[in-house]
Amino acid sequence: MMSSAIASVFRGTIIHSLELETVQILHNAALGVSHLGSIVFVRPDVDTDDKFNLIQQEYGFESNKVVNLGNKFLIPGFIDTHAHAPQYHNAGTGTDLPLLKWLEKYTFPVESKFRDLSFAKNVYTKVVDRMLKNGTTTCCYYATIHLDASLLLADIVTERGQRGFIGKVCMDRHSPDHYVETTEDSIRNTRQFVEQLQARGNPLVQPIVTPRFAPSCTDSLMHDLGKLARERNTLVQSHISENLDEVQWVKSLYPNLNSYAEVYKHFDLLTNKTIMAHCVHLSDQELDLFKQQEASIAHCPQSNFTLGSGALDVRKVLSKNIKIGLGSDVSGGYSASLLSAVRDTTKCSNAVLFGDRTHKTLGYEAAFYLATVGGSKVVCMEDKLGNFVEGKYFDAQVIDPYVQGGPFDVFADDTPKDIFQKFIFLGDDRNVNSVYVNGKKVI
Ligand code: GUN
Ligand code: ZN
Repeated sequence: MMSSAIASVFRGTIIHSLELETVQILHNAALGVSHLGSIVFVRPDVDTDDKFNLIQQEYGFESNKVVNLGNKFLIPGFIDTHAHAPQYHNAGTGTDLPLLKWLEKYTFPVESKFRDLSFAKNVYTKVVDRMLKNGTTTCCYYATIHLDASLLLADIVTERGQRGFIGKVCMDRHSPDHYVETTEDSIRNTRQFVEQLQARGNPLVQPIVTPRFAPSCTDSLMHDLGKLARERNTLVQSHISENLDEVQWVKSLYPNLNSYAEVYKHFDLLTNKTIMAHCVHLSDQELDLFKQQEASIAHCPQSNFTLGSGALDVRKVLSKNIKIGLGSDVSGGYSASLLSAVRDTTKCSNAVLFGDRTHKTLGYEAAFYLATVGGSKVVCMEDKLGNFVEGKYFDAQVIDPYVQGGPFDVFADDTPKDIFQKFIFLGDDRNVNSVYVNGKKVI
């Protein structure tokens, strides 16, 4: 008999999103994964062995390829659209200042330490492991200005088997003397970073062009980074309109441009491959510009609450059909778990309601959609990631709600939806039994 194209088959409950407000729960499902890591079939209601045997005959896989989920369930891996890997060192500390003072006092000092590769290796190994343990299968990482340490982060992400977009941070002005680049170094090292990472040929780990934010980059650097991203066909990530002082600062730096969003557009850095973090204080005109440019938003509610930045009106963003996903923004956000961002997305929507009683709040179902399908759109991989649709890559977490010593209790009359909701609000990495990226078990 010809050997089967199927590498593994999962049998049990599968939970994912196909649309914003609805979580789909497939009972007695069977899901087959190919040797290349993509989903070959998804069948609901395979509630008898006879029905399962028919699928087995159709695809010709051996019984030892079958993973019985039992009372665990499968959900898609989380997609963290915004995280600072070096800042993981500080996660859970330095929560007392607004953005610009926070950058000066805590963030630039720790990032400057990543010129030391052994310091970098320790922190980067720990952050990638922490992300994976918490079910983040794809992450958009900012590294630091250092070429070697940024490549090291890419190597660790590769070695651990995570999917990632890795950015060498660019900053050539308004930065402390101990943590700044010349314009020439910034563009040369970024070009090298992009070319070397692309040459490594791992399709799971890609470079992303990363101007820190407009105040940190000269016009000349911004212009060259826009050109580089176009030439090398990479994604772009940066920050915009997180904090009112920052918005005022950009206004004073660019009196002749209409808005903060126009600044990035001016340098060809606001495109359909751009991920902008925060976006809390964008005007309606700027949101329209995002829509026109097909740029996307990384919503980072935990960071926005912790640094006192503001509450993004996600419902308005969605009503304008702008791509949006969730970001941990470690360490503006203190938790590397995207579950925290999911919870804070619901709370942020409630905060918008406090100021506008007509606001239609977002529930946990919509927040879960943003952490999975929303993120897949943000990284321009909606045809490959985000849920369990045939042809997509199998990036998944097996969740065990009954784990010994776990963070919540399940009672006899809890429905599957109740159990899923308990995991969303109370779950943590103790419930993450295993994690798969591109069909390969990484946890
Ligand atoms: N704006 C510019 N740099 C940063 C950063 O590191 N974190 C956050 N939250 N905002 C920024
Ligand atoms: Zn950030």
